[in-house]
Amino acid sequence: MSIIAPSILAADFANLQREVTMLNESMADWIHVDVMDGVFVPNISFGIPVIEAIKKHAKKPLDVHLMIVQPERYVETFQKAGAEILTVHMEASTHLHRTLQQIKAAGMKAGVALNPHTSVSLLKDIIIDIDLVCVMSVNPGFGGQKFIENTYQKVAELKALIESKKSKALIEIDGGVNQQNAKPLLDAGADVLVAGNFVFASPNPKEIIQGLKNF
Ligand code: DX5
Ligand code: ZN
Repeated sequence: MSIIAPSILAADFANLQREVTMLNESMADWIHVDVMDGVFVPNISFGIPVIEAIKKHAKKPLDVHLMIVQPERYVETFQKAGAEILTVHMEASTHLHRTLQQIKAAGMKAGVALNPHTSVSLLKDIIIDIDLVCVMSVNPGFGGQKFIENTYQKVAELKALIESKKSKALIEIDGGVNQQNAKPLLDAGADVLVAGNFVFASPNPKEIIQGLKNF
């Protein structure tokens, strides 16, 4: 059964409590939370106080995706703010192995995100230490972008690597997920689908979430 993680980035921030309540009532498994620092990516989203506000109402785990430089500086802070899963970018982490241990020591699941240009093969020596690989299917920084087709190939390669190393890492797809690509992604080996605009731009987000869940 796939895991569905709607991205709160596409929600109505003026009605955050209502949006989180909607997700609580939906078939969503996790709430995907995108943190952008304006340095690692050319956009700034939100930070700790907003995550704390979401956490106050959320009945589902917060899957926090850090698009920030030097993520190791904030691991404990995000745990305190309510993150259950904490994902850092490979391209932003000089000492990735140490950072993953730090995330686990803080009591969270440890994720690694890969930009579209970053090869899955770079995970070879670290895959056993990873709980979640977030394969970016758009360039990080903005919601509502077009899905990059090469992602299918990457997912298949990643699945093979995970199996060959007997890793328990889940494969998450982030960016441009919709009606057309959801099923082929799951068939290729994806475990978790993040969806922002596809869910929140719909007049009936709960129905969209249920549709994704039933693929
Ligand atoms: C992009 C973010 C995504 C984004 C996905 O940098 O990491 O999580 O919210 O949004 P959609 O599904 O609209 O592409
Ligand atoms: Zn994300």
